[in-house]
Amino acid sequence: MEKYALITGGTKGIGKAVAFCLGKAGYNLVLTYASDPNTAEHTREEFQQQLQIKVFVLQADVTDKDSIEKIYTYLQERDLLLNAVVFNAGLTCRDSFEDLSLEDWERVFFANVHFPVFFLQRIVRRINKGGSVVFTGSLMGIQPHSVSLAYGVTKSAVHALVKNLVKFLTPYELRVNAVAPGFVDTEWQKTKPAEIRRNIENKVSLGRFCDPEELAEVYKMLIENSYFNGEVVVVDGGYSYK
Ligand SMILES: NC(=O)c1ccc[n+]([C@@H]2O[C@H](COP(=O)([O-])OP(=O)(O)OC[C@H]3O[C@@H](n4cnc5c(N)ncnc54)[C@H](OP(=O)(O)O)[C@@H]3O)[C@@H](O)[C@H]2O)c1
Repeated sequence: MEKYALITGGTKGIGKAVAFCLGKAGYNLVLTYASDPNTAEHTREEFQQQLQIKVFVLQADVTDKDSIEKIYTYLQERDLLLNAVVFNAGLTCRDSFEDLSLEDWERVFFANVHFPVFFLQRIVRRINKGGSVVFTGSLMGIQPHSVSLAYGVTKSAVHALVKNLVKFLTPYELRVNAVAPGFVDTEWQKTKPAEIRRNIENKVSLGRFCDPEELAEVYKMLIENSYFNGEVVVVDGGYSYK
């Protein structure tokens, strides 16, 4: 039987690496993105050339509540049932505490917390029994030293959400977990000044950023191992031990 995985923010960075890893394992892919259709199309072509799977890409901004219905309708029209959902697209706001606006605070909360809850509510019956939901949390949701207050608090909420959702997804025979990455070498990190990148490397026991590909294996494990449930798996290269 065909398997499908939906990955929000699946066209770049961590989401793309997870998509490729699942594609190699035979999952067909539905990848969402927000603002860069060229990269999304390039990712679709790249995957379709390299993997013998179906790949769909869909613009659906997680800061917009209409995206919930947009993705639902897209799946329904193609009669797609899912085996895995990865909530990966996430937002930050790096304004100082003094400059932080209520609108920005709400936008980060909507994207990181409200969107996945209400999207999941909408599509839960389109996920096959035995399926799996994985969130992208963050080390910043565990160690409160993010430069963004809204980011750290929402990622903590994501971790709490995973544990609380177990009870609500069990009747659907679905498991739910999160990966909490430390510092992963995606555009998100590559755009930081060299000095800040060096400071980060110095704090990680392994002395380097995580490759998205090595992180992706952890998502696949959480999706495929049938006994992981309600877990937040930290992948930080030993950040706390140095
Ligand atoms: N990189 C790290 O060190 C790190 C560490 C811990 C946690 N994380 C988390 O990992 C996740 C992905 O980060 P990343 O580093 O892989 O980022 P990335 O390389 O910038 O990729 C982000 C992906 O998400 C999409 N996206 C961005 N904003 C979106 C929105 N509003 N709605 C829908 N899709 C959106 C992007 O598509 P478009 O460009 O087309 O919009 C792209 O496909 C985030 O939740 C982040 O908080 C990252």
